Amino acid sequence: MNDFFAPAPPALEALCPSLAHILEQAVAIARGAGEILRAGFAQLTTQRAAPEMRFKSSEFDPVTEFDHRSEAFIVAALQRAFPEHRIVGEEGGAYAAPAAGDGELICEWHVDPLDGTVNFAHGFPAFAVSLGLLVDGWPTLGVVYDPMADEMFSAAHGMGATLNGRPIRVSTIDALGAALLNTGFPYDCHVSEENNFAHFIAFQRLTQGVRRVGSAALDLCTVACGRMDGYWELKIKPHDIAAGIVIVREAGGTVTDFAGGQAMFARQQVVASNGRLHAAMLEVLRASSV
Ligand code: IPD
Ligand code: CA
Ligand code: CA
Repeated sequence: MNDFFAPAPPALEALCPSLAHILEQAVAIARGAGEILRAGFAQLTTQRAAPEMRFKSSEFDPVTEFDHRSEAFIVAALQRAFPEHRIVGEEGGAYAAPAAGDGELICEWHVDPLDGTVNFAHGFPAFAVSLGLLVDGWPTLGVVYDPMADEMFSAAHGMGATLNGRPIRVSTIDALGAALLNTGFPYDCHVSEENNFAHFIAFQRLTQGVRRVGSAALDLCTVACGRMDGYWELKIKPHDIAAGIVIVREAGGTVTDFAGGQAMFARQQVVASNGRLHAAMLEVLRASSV
């Protein structure tokens, strides 16, 4: 029941030999996009100028020229490298590859060209580029690059997760009382009842602390490398989390929807943990549902 909307893991064996090659290319592309963001950030902060900004769902949901520049670079580069893959970019950049033949795996990139736009626009240096590859809908390969810290997180199915080339692992904390967690709030939390506030209060009362960094992709990576012990968020999109899901799993962590199933994309919910805290986190989410 929990997995009703979720894809089944595909037979990835056919793709496995090429995953290392795909990962190498994706890392180079994320680095290139990160350079665009780093240069844009330097320009904005030295000029102390507000970036050219538009708004999406509301006045609280900005998009800058650098989101668009980064996405244009990524979509063109992915298309050149993998003409047979589909691409879905957050800002509308897309590429519909030729239809896959019978029995062929469908490879689809979900691209967040600037995860943490509000931070970026305010001159707060916590944002990232996130490239996640779904194979037949299954999160299979992910790259998250933080250009200000020059931290490249990457992982692919069965290959482990790394930070700047070194293997990473989730933490070993096994009690919520000793845990540091991470979350985010949806852009419509000013007006919607489904706003994560009750969950936030519940976790804040039970843990050493809850942080709100402002980049879902980095939030997942902080769990993967053990800096944080868990993360949850609702109304979250595939471009925010596809890459980070793979990175957490390959670092030994657990990722599910709020019911413990694999419908993170269909339900737009994610809970990531070091595994040891997972059942306790799901129980707090259940008990604090409004
Ligand atoms: C947002 C960030 C934020 C999360 C929001 C996302 P954006 O992405 O990841 O941390 O709380 O839900 O939409 O808009 O900066 O790409
Ligand atoms: Ca995002
Ligand atoms: Ca974004």
